[in-house]
Amino acid sequence: MKQSVSFKLNNQNVSVEVNGDESLLTIIRTYLDKTGTKFGCGLGDCGACTVLIDNEAARSCMILIEDVANKEIITIEGLATGEILHPIQKAFITLDALQCGFCTPGMIMNALGLLIKNPTPTRNEIINGMEDNLCRCGSYNRIVEAIEMAAKEMNKKVKI
Ligand code: FES
Ligand code: FES
Repeated sequence: MKQSVSFKLNNQNVSVEVNGDESLLTIIRTYLDKTGTKFGCGLGDCGACTVLIDNEAARSCMILIEDVANKEIITIEGLATGEILHPIQKAFITLDALQCGFCTPGMIMNALGLLIKNPTPTRNEIINGMEDNLCRCGSYNRIVEAIEMAAKEMNKKVKI
């Protein structure tokens, strides 16, 4: 049975008529055109579909749409302010922390969730916090370096 679910997506109020058993990932990609969030495994194992839900990183393939009612979702499309990229996006570009880029939106969103919880992580804390996000291209070292760079930049600005 269809139901209406309302939530905030990248700072805008949205309301969708959906079956409650559809995933957040399906809804944002298929109905709301936010295709930056990727479908990787669909099983909660790869992290390609990571978004923020109320400022916590979550795997959108594993979240039922009905469970995000009245919550605040941020996807990769919600990070830049106009033409100005978020410091994590900038750091990934500066350090070339990607190859094919498929894992990158999920990596960046997971990194943001990590830095919201812990704005000054050690290298090991970054490695541990990112270890469940998979990169088939093996860009892990540069990803960790990019998160270190972004953390420094974000701490300068005191804005996440
Ligand atoms: S697509 Fe969600 S964890 Fe892989
Ligand atoms: S850059 Fe290709 S999967 Fe990570």
